[in-house]
Amino acid sequence: MSQTSPVLPWKTKIAVSVIGAVNDTACRSNGTVNRRLLHFLDFKVPPNEKPLHGVKTADITVDPTRNLWFRLFIPTNLPTDVSLPVLVFFHGGGFALLSPDSTAYDAVCRRFARKVSVIVVSVNYRLSPENRFPCPYEDGFDVLKFLDNRDFEGFPLNADLSKCFLAGDSAGGNLAHHVAIRAGESQFGEVNVIGLIAIQPFFGGEERLDSEIRLHNMPLVSLKRTDWLWKAFLPEGSDRDHHAVNVFGPKSADISGLKFPATVVFVGGFDPLLDWQRRYYEGLKRSGKEAYLVEYPTAIHAFYIFPELPQASLLFREVKDFIQKLSKPK
Ligand SMILES: *[C@@H]1O[C@H](CO)[C@@H](O)[C@H](O)[C@H]1NC(C)=O
Ligand SMILES: *[C@@H]1O[C@H](CO)[C@@H](O)[C@H](O)[C@H]1NC(C)=O
Repeated sequence: MSQTSPVLPWKTKIAVSVIGAVNDTACRSNGTVNRRLLHFLDFKVPPNEKPLHGVKTADITVDPTRNLWFRLFIPTNLPTDVSLPVLVFFHGGGFALLSPDSTAYDAVCRRFARKVSVIVVSVNYRLSPENRFPCPYEDGFDVLKFLDNRDFEGFPLNADLSKCFLAGDSAGGNLAHHVAIRAGESQFGEVNVIGLIAIQPFFGGEERLDSEIRLHNMPLVSLKRTDWLWKAFLPEGSDRDHHAVNVFGPKSADISGLKFPATVVFVGGFDPLLDWQRRYYEGLKRSGKEAYLVEYPTAIHAFYIFPELPQASLLFREVKDFIQKLSKPK
């Protein structure tokens, strides 16, 4: 018989229930987010010029009028004459929560930089409901343009923008997809997006899929929460078949003629979003794109923010293989 519920260390169990409770307290029933409460509960870490676990960090401002900035993660234990791919990362949190300086995401990006040997650019995009669709997509795309100009201090000379990857988890995976589409429609000088890493991306629709119903009592994600988040993110009056949410749905555009990077989609067997993510992978294949599906049958949503979970190490190794394969000269 297959396993019907995830086996989690007690430490992880406590963490997911605390995160869930914070989520539910901060996301009010009238559709607003209690930012004052989050100010105390979402712990932040400052950037650090001194290498910590072989990575140094700096915060770079892109546009102060909309608080658009990114945290740069530079591995320090590698020779500086070897060029490194650039990973532009979008954090999760349902479009409404968290930021690159949240403790969990600072740690996740540090691990990417160290374990995958890449320069990470973790984007502080605007959050909903204060800033709805398409604000975060615009922010993500504008960071690519900003990188393309290289007109800022602190960007290492060995950062190779011709090997640029977009990555994101949960809502960040949704963002990475939509930024990839904008990038495919645009011309850059140096930036060339060659890969997309969608880690348990947040997609949905009006339909209720089997995994959403079957896995209703899993940690972190539930229909009540995802419905709330889509409502906070979408323009007033839209339904969940909006093309931002249901990317291969009744209102989405055909992307088969569009330049789109090779994509790896990571899914977990205990993630209620699983069936939407499988549809995403199938939609990419149907549109003629290079796509791979990596499934961890016993993984919960957001497993990679818990380094104690075995699938977290597997994910970093898999991302490294994907990036190395695509970065090889053809
Ligand atoms: C939502 O509820 C909070 C807390 O009760 C209140 O401060 C805020 O003004 C409300 N916002 C709207 C748009 O109703
Ligand atoms: C809060 O809930 C949303 C939706 O359930 C989820 O995507 C997000 O990851 C949760 N936040 C954290 C910190 O896990």
